[in-house]
Amino acid sequence: MSLPAPRVAILGLGAYAPEARITNADLEKLVDTSDAWIVERSGIRERRKAAPEQAASDLGLMAARMALADAGCDPSELEAIYTGTASGDFPFPSTACVMQAKLGCIGGAAFDLTAACAGFLYTVALAHDSIASGRFKRVLCVGTEVLTRITDYNDRGTCILFGDGAGAVVLGPADVPGGHRILHSRIHADGRQGPLLHQPAGGSRNPASHATVDAHDHSIRMEGREVFKFAVRTIPEAVERLLSEAGVKGSDVRWLVPHQMNTRIMQAAGERLGIPPERTMINIDRYGNTSSASIPLVLNEYVKAGKVKKGDLLALVTLGGGLAWATALVEW
Ligand code: UT7
Repeated sequence: MSLPAPRVAILGLGAYAPEARITNADLEKLVDTSDAWIVERSGIRERRKAAPEQAASDLGLMAARMALADAGCDPSELEAIYTGTASGDFPFPSTACVMQAKLGCIGGAAFDLTAACAGFLYTVALAHDSIASGRFKRVLCVGTEVLTRITDYNDRGTCILFGDGAGAVVLGPADVPGGHRILHSRIHADGRQGPLLHQPAGGSRNPASHATVDAHDHSIRMEGREVFKFAVRTIPEAVERLLSEAGVKGSDVRWLVPHQMNTRIMQAAGERLGIPPERTMINIDRYGNTSSASIPLVLNEYVKAGKVKKGDLLALVTLGGGLAWATALVEW
């Protein structure tokens, strides 16, 4: 398969995480767990927690403003805002619309898409196509989550994992100087696996009631072991497909940029792809799983630390509720 010449690039990147932390010691006080178990099974030591007055749009705006400044892009130039979130401000209006009002770029497109942890890379794929088709010249993609508001702190199988954060990129045409070209991207889902990772109540299937609140059914429910097995198989396969279609070998990839879901899953994927741990971006120890925010959050950390050099090939991969997964190959 020969791919068309790259037409779209990342022009700016930003990320934000709130200050407050939930440590493993904090969780030991809430559920029957231990720091040693959490570190060994997931790699997580602490996660961030939004302040009570912060919602997903507030975190997203912090990241968006950084990405816009990084791109040298005035908000008035934005023609669209695409947001991936599973914990938006409201069922509607969209978190993208809430952010649009605050950024002041009125009249362009703004919406959220539901692809859980794959949300951010889904927005990037969509923004890529919006720009490649000539529809838009500047699109803001945001992944933002306040997962601590939909986490059940009675459920030790999930509460150890999730944290809050946001990340954003500005995309534009590949001929803009300083851009990081998107060489290829793919989006996937297997809807049969939906019950493995879901939020049972709050939609039209199971509207909010006293019973749903009492049952904690507005929180994330997960068959962790099954998601783990699906991810260990699917993530490397998805990256192999991305790379083979782009004519790139695992050894050519400078950085694997995985969704921060579990250190063991990320390491297993790296091993199978021939990408050693020192070339795999990891910050799950300090942020936990931030769903759609996790890829821009870890990428921003490595870029701002000067670890990513011009020309480096980056393989981004994520998987989560849906089950939905996505990949992207970026030349930095
Ligand atoms: O973004 C996508 C979101 N989803 C994920 O990232 C989930 C992927 N899955 C995982 O990361 C892992 O499955 C977990 C970290 C959630 C769990 O690790 P695991 O090695 O798959 O554990 P398990 O669910 O197979 O449970 C093993 C044992 C069980 O006890 P028994 O049945 O063997 O007696 C659990 O009850 O560990 C027990 N357990 C815990 N023990 C201490 C489950 N959670 C905990 C806990 N502390 N927090």
